[in-house]
Amino acid sequence: MEKSLPDYKEARRRTKEEVKILTDAYIIDNELSKLGTGKTYCTVTYGCQANVRDSETISAIMEDMSFTRVEDMKTADVVIFNTCAIRENAHNKVFGNLGIIKNLKEKKDILTVFCGCMAQEESVIKMLTEKYKWVDVILGTHNIHNLPKLLSEAIDKNEQVVEVFSKEGDIVENLPVRRDNKYKAFVNIMYGCDKFCTYCIVPYTRGKQRSRRIEDILNEVNELVKDGYKEVTLLGQNVNAYGKDIENYPTMANLLEEVAKTGIDRIRFVTSHPWDFTDEMIDVIAKYENIMPYFHLPVQAGSNRILKLMGRRYTKESYLELFNKIKERIPNASITTDIIVGFPTETKEEFDETLDIVNTCKYDGAFTFIYSPRENTPAASMEDNISLEEKEERLQILNKLVNKYYKENNEKLLGKVVPVLIEGPSDKNSNLYSGYTDTMKLVNVECDPSNVGTIINVEITEAKTWSLDGKKVK
Ligand code: SAH
Ligand code: SF4
Ligand code: F3S
Repeated sequence: MEKSLPDYKEARRRTKEEVKILTDAYIIDNELSKLGTGKTYCTVTYGCQANVRDSETISAIMEDMSFTRVEDMKTADVVIFNTCAIRENAHNKVFGNLGIIKNLKEKKDILTVFCGCMAQEESVIKMLTEKYKWVDVILGTHNIHNLPKLLSEAIDKNEQVVEVFSKEGDIVENLPVRRDNKYKAFVNIMYGCDKFCTYCIVPYTRGKQRSRRIEDILNEVNELVKDGYKEVTLLGQNVNAYGKDIENYPTMANLLEEVAKTGIDRIRFVTSHPWDFTDEMIDVIAKYENIMPYFHLPVQAGSNRILKLMGRRYTKESYLELFNKIKERIPNASITTDIIVGFPTETKEEFDETLDIVNTCKYDGAFTFIYSPRENTPAASMEDNISLEEKEERLQILNKLVNKYYKENNEKLLGKVVPVLIEGPSDKNSNLYSGYTDTMKLVNVECDPSNVGTIINVEITEAKTWSLDGKKVK
């Protein structure tokens, strides 16, 4: 039974309609709470932190229905794909995994749930409803709270159930969460995005910008402090635009200050759009020791013509002004970025301007991407006149430069003592423990098991490109 399908026209709409805060939308009755008794589930997550956080909610919902978690999707009774639509290769990975499940399904009963950003795409839904009829439940990013109802409907009726709203979105405040990490937590401060950068699909898949109420955010952080969490990352596509969608509301600077006052040891926030970054924010970050000196400040490109075509609403000059202001006020700040190469019509000279900005900013790290046209976005109808070969070459050149600064910045820490939140045994070497510095650098540390979950001082003894080595000091 088809309930509701995504609609790009609807997804693009932005009205002044007030956002509804729903405190009772998620319902689990006695019957639903037993649906998964004796059965297992596996959540497979793609994409950004917003999806990671959503998966923590999906997992909690599955456990509210008495399903037991397994880590290997091949052994699960219910497999949930929480998908990402940001680039074409994200799509390909999901379809590859769907193929594996289809084969397994011939041997045993598996229920498949498809959710996340790809579920908001018209063409994906068309394909799933026509060619992947065996995918049991398809639900959109605004429909997570209805997972129990939809899953039980799919089981009862034994047919595909689809619920994808393309509305601007509400805020559901009574969702459960099963956090993946015992010491660090993601806290949503806003949903959606209104920036409509011309290459980006997120404003269509996640709805309009909706800030959570400050009291709800603070309650969540206070609970985390009580539960012994050491770090929160405040999440949103544009965290510095926090509050702008509500009249006379606290700003990101106000929110950061209030979160700092909860006393949690470490506060981070992603992602910062350079456009909304205010001086007040920098003041608050400089004032509170528990706000980490780490900034993810996507630049995307170094050419003003390309930035304009991207709809980024800042220039190379204004970006650098902000960058320098942060570095002056917070001298040990580490700053990372996102860069797209091969945007439609980008010339070699314009790509060189991207390299120039990397040389100027000497980033602590960067996520670099080849431009990927996304259905229905304005950039998708621009002439994509750069060959894949050229794009790949630009990416390689850029990555080489980015990695050089990655390593150089790491080397600057040699012999220094830095605070590290130890999270657990290192993946690489079971005698070591790993964690992140205040500036978000990964360190493998010689220390004691009892240090796990605490912040210790670590002297850096070796600097590699992607990580540091160190030992505990007093
Ligand atoms: N809200 C964040 C970005 C979220 S998406 C911001 O504005 O900074 C993460 C990154 O994916 C973006 O910063 C961009 O570099 C990249 N990206 C987004 N759409 C893309 C596309 N169509 N092709 C290639 N990279 C893309
Ligand atoms: Fe996409 Fe731009 Fe919004 Fe970031 S700010 S999510 S890149 S539209
Ligand atoms: Fe991907 Fe959606 Fe995040 S498209 S990057 S999962 S908001």
